Order: sequence, then C-alpha cells, then structure tokens
Amino acid sequence: MARRAAGPALATPQERQAGLPAGVLVERRAQHPGLRLSLHAAAVAALLWPLRPLGDARRRRSRLMLQLKVIGTADLPAVLALQAQCYGPEFLESAEAFEAKLRAARHLHCSYLAVVAGEPLAYVVSLPVDDGQLPALDAPSVSPARAPRTLYLHDLAVSPAGRTRRLGHQLVRQVVHRAQDMGLTQVALVAVQGSRRYWEHQGFVAAPSPLAPVVAEKLASFGPGATLMRRALTPA
Ligand SMILES: CC(C)(COP(=O)(O)OP(=O)(O)OC[C@H]1O[C@@H](n2cnc3c(N)ncnc32)[C@H](O)[C@@H]1OP(=O)(O)O)[C@@H](O)C(=O)NCCC(=O)NCCS
Repeated sequence: MARRAAGPALATPQERQAGLPAGVLVERRAQHPGLRLSLHAAAVAALLWPLRPLGDARRRRSRLMLQLKVIGTADLPAVLALQAQCYGPEFLESAEAFEAKLRAARHLHCSYLAVVAGEPLAYVVSLPVDDGQLPALDAPSVSPARAPRTLYLHDLAVSPAGRTRRLGHQLVRQVVHRAQDMGLTQVALVAVQGSRRYWEHQGFVAAPSPLAPVVAEKLASFGPGATLMRRALTPA
C-alpha cells in the first residue's frame, strides 16, 4: 500500500524477473490473509509480553495446588460424593463395588483422587484386567487379573466445580503413564452418558464388533448407549 501512495515505483528484481509491473508482489503480499493474521498475532503478543510473568505464576500456582492422591478405602466417601454429582442414578455404584475394584488392584497405584486446595474435585478408578474380562457395572466382587495386558479405566468423574481445570485430561494422562509403567499394551473403557467423543479426542477408538459374548454381556450392564473403547499404548 505504501508503495502505491508514493507514486510510480521501480519494479523489484523479483517483479522484473517474473515480468510483472512494479508493486504487484508487494500488493499481493500485503493482501495475503495469513500474513495479515500473523502480523496481528505478533502485535497482540508484543502487547501482552510484559504481562507474561503473571500468567506463568498463575499457571504454576494452580499446578502446585493440584494433588493426585492414590485412592484408599478412607477416600470412598469422597469418591461416592463425586460420583453422585457426575452420574445419573442408573450408573451409580455402591461403596462395595468400588472397594472390590480397589482390592483387585491393591498396591498397583492406578486409581487417583484429584484434590485441589484440600477439596476433592475428581477421581479415576482403574484396574488391570485379563483379555476378554470386564467388571460389570456395580459388580460386588472382582477377581485380580492373572496375566493382564489391559488397564481398564472403569470410571472417570470430574465434579462440576472442577470442570475448567482440565482435571479429566490430567487423570487420564496419569492412568496412561501408569499403564505404560506396568508394561501393559492398552487402556480400555466403557463410554457412557454421551462421552464417546470426549474419549475419541483422547485417542480412544470403539472396539470393533462383534464383541466376545462374555464381554458383550458385561457391556450390556452399562445400558444400551454404552461403547467399549480402547487405546493402544506405546512402551514407556
Ligand atoms: C467427561 C468429564 C470427565 C470431562 O472432564 P473435564 O475435566 O471437564 O474435561 P477435560 O478438561 O478433560 O476436557 C475438556 C474438553 O473435553 C470436552 N468435553 C467435556 N465433556 C465432554 C463430553 N461429554 N463429550 C465431548 N466432549 C466433552 C470439553 O468441551 C473440552 O473441550 P476442549 O478441549 O475443546 O475445550 C466430566 O465432564 C465428567 O465427569 N462428566 C460426568 C461423568 C462422565 O460422563 N464420565 C465419563 C463417562 S465414561
């Protein structure tokens, strides 16, 4: 634009080489939307640069305040309270069912409570399972796996008060790392309450049909909309 306002100008070497009149290449570059956008982005970034330490401090503080605690039986009241905030009545499990899953994965440290500033805001419960196995919803007893290749992520819940902190992602990442540390090859889960897209965004894909009858039967305990999903792991 500046070149046109300044009157007739000499063609640049590139313009001469391409046989174009003076100003064409500058004009095209000035009109390129990507360039305009990146100029705007650079200007905004320059304006915000002095405020950067404030954002860093806030991010550091919120990371420091988050504690991922391995769930023990003493945490069950907190887990049940979070469950009640996150699931419809048809998905609620008893304390006995949670305890059975924690017992089946005793000492494996694969279920976590997310505590922020002393307040439990989210949890994930997972346990290794043998091929073709899947605990039914609200199963009162669960046998420990003998030769597991799968970490079964049974339940992820983030309270409405915790839903702006990416706690779900952090808990899933923790479980995936734990499964890799344990030498397992995949994480599996049952998507309910319309959460299939959420899991797809986290790298899970629906298990192909038909499922083994024993798995299909367990899946049915989660209701008609439930989907078995899996995510293959790369070794840690
Ligand atoms: C689903 C749930 C665990 C997500 O937890 P969260 O901490 O709020 O979510 P995260 O921070 O991990 O992820 C946020 C992203 O997921 C998206 N998301 C959240 N819930 C979603 C859902 N049900 N379907 C699709 N996307 C969803 C958000 O829009 C956001 O998207 P963005 O990254 O593009 O901004 C939480 O909403 C919850 O506890 N729901 C009730 C229990 C439940 O349904 N659990 C899963 C059953 S298998």
